Amino acid sequence: MIWQRNSLLSIEDLSSEEIIFLLKKAKSIKEQKEKSGQVLPSLKGKRIINLFMEPSTRTRVAFEIAAKSLGADIISITGEASSLTKGETLKDTAMNVQALGADAIVIRHSSPGSPLFLSRLVDVPIINAGDGAHEHPSQALLDIYTLQEKLGDLRDKKITILGDILFSRVARSNLWGLLKLGAEVTLAGPSTLVPREFEELGARVTHDPNSALEGADAVMLLRIQHERQQASHFPSLAEYANVFGLDSVALARMKKNAIILHPGPLNRGVEIESEIADSHRAVILQQVANGIAVRMAILHSCIIRQEGDPS
Ligand code: CP
Repeated sequence: MIWQRNSLLSIEDLSSEEIIFLLKKAKSIKEQKEKSGQVLPSLKGKRIINLFMEPSTRTRVAFEIAAKSLGADIISITGEASSLTKGETLKDTAMNVQALGADAIVIRHSSPGSPLFLSRLVDVPIINAGDGAHEHPSQALLDIYTLQEKLGDLRDKKITILGDILFSRVARSNLWGLLKLGAEVTLAGPSTLVPREFEELGARVTHDPNSALEGADAVMLLRIQHERQQASHFPSLAEYANVFGLDSVALARMKKNAIILHPGPLNRGVEIESEIADSHRAVILQQVANGIAVRMAILHSCIIRQEGDPS
């Protein structure tokens, strides 16, 4: 296939072929980096603006490393350090960033749909780095990349996403991506945080953690997104940890070599026992590392475009 998009706004938008294209491209970049220590500076002379209106460690830094590894200049602007705090609108901010010569804008914002909104206002590629509880496409791509590295073909693999699904953009993006690649996806957590409506998209929904983990090939744990919740959805964090936290008893319900993912930041002792987070079953830091090659693939594809299959 030929990649023709100039923006990456969601995984819902992508076809399975487009997802596979980006994953193959990330694999090729990672292999090239491991073989020769570097990749071609194919974005030399390009200027990328990281516009992060919500806090971030992994995503912002990985986009910075990805851009620099491809030879691009990247400038990061955070919410507190921007003129948004002086009343400037997001639209004006983006138009000014474009006037400053941006070749692409990577945006994280608390409002769902803000990347789509910007993509209609400016002529440069917009990369969604997380918009409210809507989507986090680059995270899902690196999660799926890591799952494929560990499990191979994801068709019919049982992947459980456990935690605060309702407020999670990571869960939504992963759900779209995993279903498009043929995985069986179970969404699990407290009934207040895992609506039955997700069944309409093709997921299995359960509020029983034992059933969710039984025979699973992988579990992706999600933290409670307190920053998006107006009210408490369960009695206390201790009770949440007691029922839904991943401990050694819960882990034993999964397949023998099942793996544990977490997009971070993780809350040790809540959604996962600290010892399990540090165990060989957890691939959390491998996810983070894979995020660089995946974001290189995204930036290169959206800025250069019209490119044939990487394999
Ligand atoms: N997974 C993720 O989005 O982490 P950050 O908030 O640190 O970018």
